[in-house]
Amino acid sequence: MSLPSPIGLLAELTHRCPLGCPYCSNPIDLVRASGELDARAWTRVMQEAADLGAMHVHLSGGEPLTRNDLAEIVNAANVAGLYTNLITSAIGLTPQRLTELKAAGLDHVQISIQGADPARADAVAHFKGAMKTKREAARHVVEEGLALTINAVVHRDNIRDLPQIIDLAQEWGAGRLEVAHVQYHGWALANRAGLMPSRDEFQTAAQVVEEARERLSGDLVIDHVIPDYYGERPKACMGGWGRQVIVVAPDGRALPCHAAASLPGLTFANVKNKSLSEIWKDDAAFQRYRGTSWMPKPCQGCERAEVDWGGCRCQAFALAGDASLTDPVCALSPNHATVAAAIAKDTAAPRAPYRFRRIGG
Ligand code: SF4
Ligand code: FES
Repeated sequence: MSLPSPIGLLAELTHRCPLGCPYCSNPIDLVRASGELDARAWTRVMQEAADLGAMHVHLSGGEPLTRNDLAEIVNAANVAGLYTNLITSAIGLTPQRLTELKAAGLDHVQISIQGADPARADAVAHFKGAMKTKREAARHVVEEGLALTINAVVHRDNIRDLPQIIDLAQEWGAGRLEVAHVQYHGWALANRAGLMPSRDEFQTAAQVVEEARERLSGDLVIDHVIPDYYGERPKACMGGWGRQVIVVAPDGRALPCHAAASLPGLTFANVKNKSLSEIWKDDAAFQRYRGTSWMPKPCQGCERAEVDWGGCRCQAFALAGDASLTDPVCALSPNHATVAAAIAKDTAAPRAPYRFRRIGG
């Protein structure tokens, strides 16, 4: 099978962030500012990603706006011909900053929200006044004529507010709303007992999304990223390991997914020492779970082997202790019972207090 080009680059420019969301998918062991790649290195990475065939870059973090050189990096991506999407909390997205980023070639802004009720949303974000700042920033994005997506991560504390979240996205002028149930990696895994909704809550949310999609068709596109734990078959995580996306961590490590650094037994090359092309094509970590030859039973020979690529390696490790196993969320996995056990344990108890994300653990 010939090796596909990555479609996109996920550039984690920094792990610094003013918010403390307990569902953050960043690793617990966050990179400090002193370890971050500089703009010159990112400029090279953008060109290498484009040369490799990538079409877009998600400028992510942490909070990319904490970098004073963000416009320089956006410009580099733009010069390389990449479509640029800023994934942001909007804290620090002043009109002046937005104008500067637009002039540098920014195409799209994705603002995360923590809920619809300002007080409760600020509590989840662990940042007073966050919601007000986001509302103002969204208005500036629309005024600047940039495409706006609202991203709402839903969980036990805000899932019943989904109708209000949909109203809010519409009111703020978003063209797209991403309703993303928490995926349990990094900080989200550490906080799973506080975040997991019940199956009934999830099913009600799915109905709310379906109804809103019909009602708002042509006005607001709603993406619904369903929670793996309530599925019968896994998703193709990252479109398959080393198939569609290349992640570069703030310190320059190139990863097949944002959580890969949590997997034991893998070492990751750094863009400081190798080109993205060399890493994508030859690096052992990218080869490890690429394709189907690594797959155990029941994935071997399964008709979905080249559809979901065996699911998520990081989830297999988190739930079954071995990244090379079938993702336990698959009902065919011999470890599928671990999912039901996790749901039963985490939804039965009163909500556990959050462990808010912060550098230093
Ligand atoms: Fe996917 Fe493997 Fe389950 Fe088949 S057995 S559906 S390939 S995870
Ligand atoms: Fe790592 Fe799914 S998050 S493979």
